[in-house]
Amino acid sequence: MNGRRVLVTGAAGGIGRAIVADLLLRGAAVLATDVDADGCARLRGRFPGEPIHVVPLDLTAPGAPRRLVAEAADRLGGLDGLVNNAGVEHRAPLDEHSTADWARVHDINLTAPFRLARAAAPVLAGQPGAAIVNVCSIAVTGFAGQAAYDASKGGLLSLTRALAVELGPRGVRANAVCPGFIDTPMLDAGGLRELAEKVAARLPLGRCGHPEDVAAAVGWLLRAEAGYITGQALFVDGGMVRA
Ligand SMILES: NC(=O)c1ccc[n+]([C@@H]2O[C@H](COP(=O)([O-])OP(=O)(O)OC[C@H]3O[C@@H](n4cnc5c(N)ncnc54)[C@H](O)[C@@H]3O)[C@@H](O)[C@H]2O)c1
Repeated sequence: MNGRRVLVTGAAGGIGRAIVADLLLRGAAVLATDVDADGCARLRGRFPGEPIHVVPLDLTAPGAPRRLVAEAADRLGGLDGLVNNAGVEHRAPLDEHSTADWARVHDINLTAPFRLARAAAPVLAGQPGAAIVNVCSIAVTGFAGQAAYDASKGGLLSLTRALAVELGPRGVRANAVCPGFIDTPMLDAGGLRELAEKVAARLPLGRCGHPEDVAAAVGWLLRAEAGYITGQALFVDGGMVRA
């Protein structure tokens, strides 16, 4: 990853922080962004002396993705990678899913990655080894009580495949990582911790994932070793999808 320049969204969250740490450790330069201003401030203090720029920003704000890509290219001197990791969970039975909840979840989980990929494509095109990684979810398989979340992640997986086909000829790969239950604040915010721990105990690998498990997969898909892989979904789920 030496000298590679990567834009990471949701960088103040559990998985985002691990992705940023992994990229910096491997010699990449990072533009990290998140809507959580306090989280951004903590991120800034966490990697002193490292090539990281932190931009607090709501990805759903008008024009935000385009501004962000321009700022990343400007501050990093170009862009080789985009990691669409920001996301929100929403759990409610179908009849309690409001249209506003559906729209909010899709705005963050699906529309923002689309707008970012659209803005980043011309900047990534022609950079050797350019790649997009979208953080989807095992939820693409469909679970009760999370219609909006599952649909948004399923859409993100389809978007990934469309990007792979359309941007491949321009030298840009696109892949998805689909985490299972990962031990981050999202489990608590989504009221999922108890369920996650119960399910994890029955998994082939017998535990919840760590943010670092996801970060390793994201980092690998960005690297040259994965240079012939595009349009794929890599499940980081302890075997859940097979259990
Ligand atoms: N934790 C899990 O078990 C799990 C499982 C499958 C998929 N995922 C996915 O992994 C990704 C990271 O999740 P996490 O577990 O680290 O959760 P997290 O809640 O710790 O992190 C998500 C981050 O996204 C940011 N974000 C939310 N809305 C935003 C917006 N409008 N603009 C900019 N940033 C925004 C949040 O501030 C937060 O820092 C998400 O896309 C999530 O759907 C997580």
